[in-house]
Amino acid sequence: MVLGLGTGSTAAFAVDRIGQLLKEGKLKNIVAVPTSIRTYEQAKSLGIPLATLDEQPNLDLAIDGADEVDPALNVVKGRGGALLREKMVELASKKFVCIVDESKLVDGLGGSKDAMPVEVVQFCWKYNLERLQALPELAGCKAKLRMNGEKPYVTDNSNYIVDLYFDTPIKDSHAASKAILALVGVVDHGLFLDMVDVVIIAGSTGIEVKQK
Ligand code: A5P
Repeated sequence: MVLGLGTGSTAAFAVDRIGQLLKEGKLKNIVAVPTSIRTYEQAKSLGIPLATLDEQPNLDLAIDGADEVDPALNVVKGRGGALLREKMVELASKKFVCIVDESKLVDGLGGSKDAMPVEVVQFCWKYNLERLQALPELAGCKAKLRMNGEKPYVTDNSNYIVDLYFDTPIKDSHAASKAILALVGVVDHGLFLDMVDVVIIAGSTGIEVKQK
């Protein structure tokens, strides 16, 4: 089985558990494609056999966390900065399972008032920050360059991230996705639409599974 390994504090639990099951011999014959350098290092330290997306472009299953999940199982991802590799790996997977806790559930994407990330090339990032903020499809959003201390945060792909903040949920996330991707110099965004097959939600009363 070819498995996509997500990034973030929740996905890290799944990666640990996969490593443990392999060690105990309860899981065999898997090869995993990590979605970030961080996850690559974690999986490597656990002895999980690894491949790149070039080597294994047809994945069976990807497991990852999310920052927001709406009732249609569309999600926001990338507050940990790994959105581009996550989206590439998860789109290449037959099945995409999201693992979250109930704090991630929202009525509409953008509704948590926390960041919706957009990965942009470093060249003239301000130009794209201003254009993102002016898009009618993102009405009223505030755009901020993500920082790492005094310097801009740099992704695994050597790009910057512009974080978008909304007062109210995005009205039409499909239209927003299209408009963002139409800006030259934008690499991708954290809206993962029509991609998730199953969401496993940990809550105070137990586990809930939602599927398409
Ligand atoms: C990484 O870039 C993100 O997409 C994470 O998968 C997502 O932010 C969820 O992270 P946590 O499990 O740490 O909340």
